Amino acid sequence: MGQPQQPDGPPGERTPLRVGMVGYAFMGAAHSQGWRTAGRVFDLPRRPVLAAICGRDEAAVRAAADRHGWDSAETDWRRLIARDDIDLVDICTPGDSHAEIALAALAAGKHVLCEKPLANTVAEAEAMTAAAEAAYARGQLAMVGFNYRRVPATALARTMVEEGRLGTLRHLRVTYLQDWLVDPGFPLTWRLRREHAGSGSLGDLGAHIVDLAQFLAGEPLAGVSALTETFVRERPLPLGTTSGLSAGASAGTGAVTVDDAALFTGRFASGALASFEATRYATGRKNSLRIELNGERGSLAFDLERLNELSYHDGTEPGTHAGFRRILVTEPDHPYLDAWWPPGHGLGYEHTFVHQVRDLVHAVAEGTRPRPSFADGLQVQRVLAAVEESAEKNSVYTPVAG
Ligand SMILES: NC(=O)c1ccc[n+]([C@@H]2O[C@H](COP(=O)([O-])OP(=O)(O)OC[C@H]3O[C@@H](n4cnc5c(N)ncnc54)[C@H](O)[C@@H]3O)[C@@H](O)[C@H]2O)c1
Repeated sequence: MGQPQQPDGPPGERTPLRVGMVGYAFMGAAHSQGWRTAGRVFDLPRRPVLAAICGRDEAAVRAAADRHGWDSAETDWRRLIARDDIDLVDICTPGDSHAEIALAALAAGKHVLCEKPLANTVAEAEAMTAAAEAAYARGQLAMVGFNYRRVPATALARTMVEEGRLGTLRHLRVTYLQDWLVDPGFPLTWRLRREHAGSGSLGDLGAHIVDLAQFLAGEPLAGVSALTETFVRERPLPLGTTSGLSAGASAGTGAVTVDDAALFTGRFASGALASFEATRYATGRKNSLRIELNGERGSLAFDLERLNELSYHDGTEPGTHAGFRRILVTEPDHPYLDAWWPPGHGLGYEHTFVHQVRDLVHAVAEGTRPRPSFADGLQVQRVLAAVEESAEKNSVYTPVAG
């Protein structure tokens, strides 16, 4: 299998990293922002080049190339992968095509960045992880896009857990709440069909919070006990071009074949207990990802809707003046912040994608394994499968396959 070609630029210039991205809607726009911006903010060892963007509709993909700053456009991802002027393939399509595109890209000698969830099934994720391991031996890297690890506040939280500031962890309490399905007239987009999305709130929102909880705890979940529900089982068919989160509705209807909400408890091998809630029916909650960790020495709390802040309670302080305090995570010593704005000026959602690119470009240049790896993505997929199995068996405690 060929190695990705690494052309030299002009003397004194950093070697380009030529990216080909598949999909140009929500995540396509967010990843474009990351690829465009990372090298202008961070001092990167390689220079990202937005070489080609790929979609199926020629006019739409050309318009997307212009809008997002890509040098060329392709209408078939196989042609994109066959190009020898592409070093890295970035997969921003629904889950039904992740495995096929990632396996082909790795076989063609490319590095791969794949959106979450890694795949629609455990079997697909296993094949992708095996291919990524074989590719690593050839010098190729593969990473999955769990971008919430790259919020400065969550990265700081991980450091604080690692430093032992919370002591032994007892509880993780995690919710990811949205409300875009409250209206029963919202159409049946790909996110509501199992053959495209794999699962519903579980694979979409649940995958994020399982990854984040395991990242913060520093260990995988050992088992789960779950409830899932589909509240609205029939929805209008979409009209015309759809993205996963928006579409017009037609007169006909079709069956929703995924969960609308997933609630589950989980146990870590260390003995810590966790609770999870993922739903698209939390009226008024737009993108509310909250996580609280309680340990024997302290606690941490994070809310994505206030993502520049981390709450910390130091349980070793005297009770007279102890309490949760707000850390404003905008100091140059905080993760990723040395390259951004002066303290207090704040970052947002889009910056997680810039940080994702920063970390991946470093890994490619230095030949280190990027995290979250495909193996991390597979582990999340196994948790999702255990949740579905438990829910089918009236919430019976179900070990996560190892
Ligand atoms: N990390 C995050 O925060 C986050 C947020 C939203 C979505 N996602 C993930 O990103 C992925 C894409 O979601 P989205 O919201 O961007 O969806 P979307 O519907 O907005 O966009 C999907 C894109 O994929 C294209 N596409 C679909 N099948 C294709 C194919 N066979 N060949 C070429 N192009 C194809 C569509 O034309 C469209 O451009 C999903 O896996 C989703 O779970 C991640």
